[in-house]
Amino acid sequence: AKTKISFLIEQYKDRVSTLPKHKSWINHNLYKYEGFWYHQGFWFHSNASFSIEVIMALQDEFQAQPSNVFLASHPKSGTTWLKALAFAIVSRAMLKNNTDSNTVHPLLTTSSLECVPFMETELFLNNPYHANDLIATHLPYSLLPKSIISSNCRIVYICRNPKDVLISFWHFMKQLRDNLSPPIKLEDAFELFTRGVSPNGSCWDHVVGYRKASLERPDQVLFLIYEEMKKDPKNEVRKLAKFIGYPFSEEEDVDEEVEKIIELCSFEKLSKVNEANKNAEETPKVIPNDVYFRKGEVGDSINYLTMEMVEILDKITLEKYDGLDISF
Ligand code: A3P
Repeated sequence: AKTKISFLIEQYKDRVSTLPKHKSWINHNLYKYEGFWYHQGFWFHSNASFSIEVIMALQDEFQAQPSNVFLASHPKSGTTWLKALAFAIVSRAMLKNNTDSNTVHPLLTTSSLECVPFMETELFLNNPYHANDLIATHLPYSLLPKSIISSNCRIVYICRNPKDVLISFWHFMKQLRDNLSPPIKLEDAFELFTRGVSPNGSCWDHVVGYRKASLERPDQVLFLIYEEMKKDPKNEVRKLAKFIGYPFSEEEDVDEEVEKIIELCSFEKLSKVNEANKNAEETPKVIPNDVYFRKGEVGDSINYLTMEMVEILDKITLEKYDGLDISF
């Protein structure tokens, strides 16, 4: 894996060197590529960390299969939850034949990161676990490799209130920093986030790209909202199952099946599993799995943001999402 990344860094060096750059939330630079910000080639141990070179390589080489289903999101919008739900839906036969399913379901023994690989990291680095058609990505719609669109692949997008995305991202990035730099202050993270300078950002532009695609091509792009899923998970899970080609059939006890899936993928359950796995790793990861589970609540940002910050963020959201029928 290291060789592959090092090779790409070399191959795309000239292209990267011409891009606008900006100091990131951690002790690295961000580069603006086709309207969105990315880190350059640095990576965490075996994890390619969504580097700009990998994205360039994917755009040059990635060949989607029509059966692939992409789970897309801006980071911290509920990706892990969506991955778990989609995986649980696709593999629900496993749940049926076991009364004590909790001990055997892969979602409870590995992590959803392994059940559904990211195109930019695990899949790119040849993840051995990949056994189904689900692929996650943080790429914005406009940067997706062309074959995903031309193969008519289905895409499920999850979006979340930008205020909660910011707070979740801020906590996440504080855990990612190398030991050389002090953690970024919230005021600074806020300032960068509102200007769209965040890894994979701007968050708003990311959402707008997929939202427009979902309105233009509803059969190809399903647009989900984290807050809606928290409010009415049953309805959203059914919608998701139908869209990804695993609808609940007449023979199934639909309510019970849906409940089971929601329960299996609940924050409480998944975060506990990760608790159990935490010390199992021999080599510590720079992104430990438990970083993906913090609170899993709607509106936690209110405990961190000032009134002024809330006003500014809400104003940007209103302007950017105008006419797109997105509400939280
Ligand atoms: P918070 O930091 O607000 O708690 P992503 O998976 O896109 O990185 O997003 C991470 C956010 O989703 C975190 O939000 C995390 O706690 C929350 N999350 C993770 N698993 C979840 C689940 N099963 N249900 C609801 N939220 C979940």
